[in-house]
Amino acid sequence: MIKKCLFPAAGYGTRFLPVTKAMPKEMLPILTKPLIQYGVEEAVEAGMNTMAIITGRGKRAIEDHFDISYELEHQIKDTSKEPLLTEIRSLIKKCTFTYTRQIEMKGLGDAILKGNALIGDEPFAVVLADDLCINQEGAGVLEQMVKLYEKYKCSIVAIMEVPEDQTYKYGVIDGKEIEEGVYMISNMVEKPEPKEAPSNLAIIGRYILTPDIFDVIKNTKLGKNGELQITDALMSLAKNGMVLAYKFKGQRFDCGSVDGYVEATNYLYDLEKSGS
Ligand code: G1P
Repeated sequence: MIKKCLFPAAGYGTRFLPVTKAMPKEMLPILTKPLIQYGVEEAVEAGMNTMAIITGRGKRAIEDHFDISYELEHQIKDTSKEPLLTEIRSLIKKCTFTYTRQIEMKGLGDAILKGNALIGDEPFAVVLADDLCINQEGAGVLEQMVKLYEKYKCSIVAIMEVPEDQTYKYGVIDGKEIEEGVYMISNMVEKPEPKEAPSNLAIIGRYILTPDIFDVIKNTKLGKNGELQITDALMSLAKNGMVLAYKFKGQRFDCGSVDGYVEATNYLYDLEKSGS
């Protein structure tokens, strides 16, 4: 069973400056909930109960969010506002939150490696909170991936088709479709220019990783932009075993960009207004 979920959350969020100057990008609200809370809810729905968060300087608000604010509790007790805290209270009760800091920004692979101390020697999920994933039709993306993990017991990345001129924003995979929407990866490239992209199947911010990834990351050379890339580490795993890519059901919003952020806000606002 997968019980732990890692949230790399040390990045600066420069695309959202100046708002991210003194506030973590993971705390940007979509309606009344911060982005990272959507990720934690998705992990809980998938059966996880331990959230391992990789933070950095200026990220204290994340820890405070997943904690009780006694002053606030006291102020709103027995008022009409109290129900607004029900959801987050119950989330805090269901989970344990653990934290460690990434001291230098050396890439997603490095952030995940820092999580080794919190994860230990077991399979785990990774959520990049600025990719907001919603499946109105049923199970969330992590839950879908956990089901697949139970069948294949190997590392899995979530993918989606992107327009060919957008490949430079993502890790891009190539592979053989072994069942509908499930690919056995034969190649992976981090942020290729369109002419170098092996396909238009792009990795989005949901992963299930087996713990052997930690040793592989340690032996991975710096890649794109001089950073330690999880895509390169996963390519080594794929060469020596099996890594799957899964075309998830649902919608993904790139809330690391202003356009995607506004789109997600409008989408969830319309959902809430229509009462679903
Ligand atoms: C990271 C990964 C990339 C992946 C993307 C998904 O890039 O390195 O492979 O496609 O997340 O959001 P980032 O967006 O952090 O630069």
